[in-house]
Amino acid sequence: MTLPGSSRFTLAPDLAICRILNGMWQVSGAHGAIDPGRAVEAMFAYHDAGFTTWDLADHYGPAEDFIAAFRRRFAAERGEARLAEIQAFTKWVPPPGPMTRRLVDEAVGVSLRRMGTDRLDLLQFHWWDYADNRYLDALKHLADLRDAGRILHVALTNFDTARLQVIAEHGIRIVSNQVQYSLVDRRPDTRMAAWCRDHDVTLLAYGTLLGGLLSERWLGRPEPGRADLPTASLRKYKQMIDTWGGWALFQELLAALKRVAGKHGASLANVGTRYILDRPAVAGVIIGARLGVAEHIADNAGTFDLALDPEYFAALDPIFARSRDLMTAIGDCGDEYR
Ligand SMILES: NC(=O)c1ccc[n+]([C@@H]2O[C@H](COP(=O)([O-])OP(=O)(O)OC[C@H]3O[C@@H](n4cnc5c(N)ncnc54)[C@H](OP(=O)(O)O)[C@@H]3O)[C@@H](O)[C@H]2O)c1
Repeated sequence: MTLPGSSRFTLAPDLAICRILNGMWQVSGAHGAIDPGRAVEAMFAYHDAGFTTWDLADHYGPAEDFIAAFRRRFAAERGEARLAEIQAFTKWVPPPGPMTRRLVDEAVGVSLRRMGTDRLDLLQFHWWDYADNRYLDALKHLADLRDAGRILHVALTNFDTARLQVIAEHGIRIVSNQVQYSLVDRRPDTRMAAWCRDHDVTLLAYGTLLGGLLSERWLGRPEPGRADLPTASLRKYKQMIDTWGGWALFQELLAALKRVAGKHGASLANVGTRYILDRPAVAGVIIGARLGVAEHIADNAGTFDLALDPEYFAALDPIFARSRDLMTAIGDCGDEYR
């Protein structure tokens, strides 16, 4: 299988990605046991299908180590030169405190060593507390490390629109912000997406498949209890659905989406992913991969063959009208972490 050219996106002139990124939170241990050998083996199947871009973090268990193991085997079997085909985006999520040059240097050094590379493709920075504006210190040091060639591009995760503006006013160049974005959590539509479009910043979306709840597997099913939800991801997004409008309304949404999917011969996951890929400023959707346990490579490839007619979505408006406004209930993107 090879993906069409439309699967690629130029995140920066020197950084092209697959618009469906492989999410590695699912190897952290919170989504069932992962066998390292099978996980690294599975990474080849994603890559060879065209899913060449990985999203991970310093705190996703062995994710950074899996990237190193994958790169090592890839280079041995296919040659060092072809390592350029792989994009691996990590995150740095420091505990609050002083953001000295030395601390930032060391954190980046740890990721470089763990991932077995001398330059990070993308470093996505997270910050817990806006009352502490030392996030600006950290970002300035990260920008210096980028200029020194240790990071190709600096990015953010879970920053709100107000802070994106502050960062831009400080002249710090970032390429993307990673946020929750789905047919249930449409908060980026309110402010974030327009700001990003106007300031040449892209969005990387997560939670688009609601941990798998947005799929045929859950259509028509009674409301699950916590014990019926085996992964941290399913539990996280079930809570989001509860805040949004509850299980019965979610079932109405799934049924309406199924009608759209049926017209196109597509899956629910395809429709949910395509919808977000088509939103302004969105560069890509991250879909979690339980490497070596479960895979949806062929189905997710189908997203790139799907062109959605916006008029189908008019049927969703009455459902959205009965859901809660998550901007009011939670706040802007990322506020659920603060
Ligand atoms: N920045 C942040 O704060 C943050 C937060 C959360 C996630 N993330 C990133 O986003 C990634 C995605 O994680 P997520 O928690 O948001 O999960 P998600 O992508 O919404 O859901 C992943 C799950 O969806 C199911 N799935 C995938 N493709 C499918 C298909 N075609 N049909 C049916 N089911 C399908 C799989 O379930 P099965 O494995 O059960 O088959 C998979 O484990 C993470 O790995 C991480 O990289 C970032």
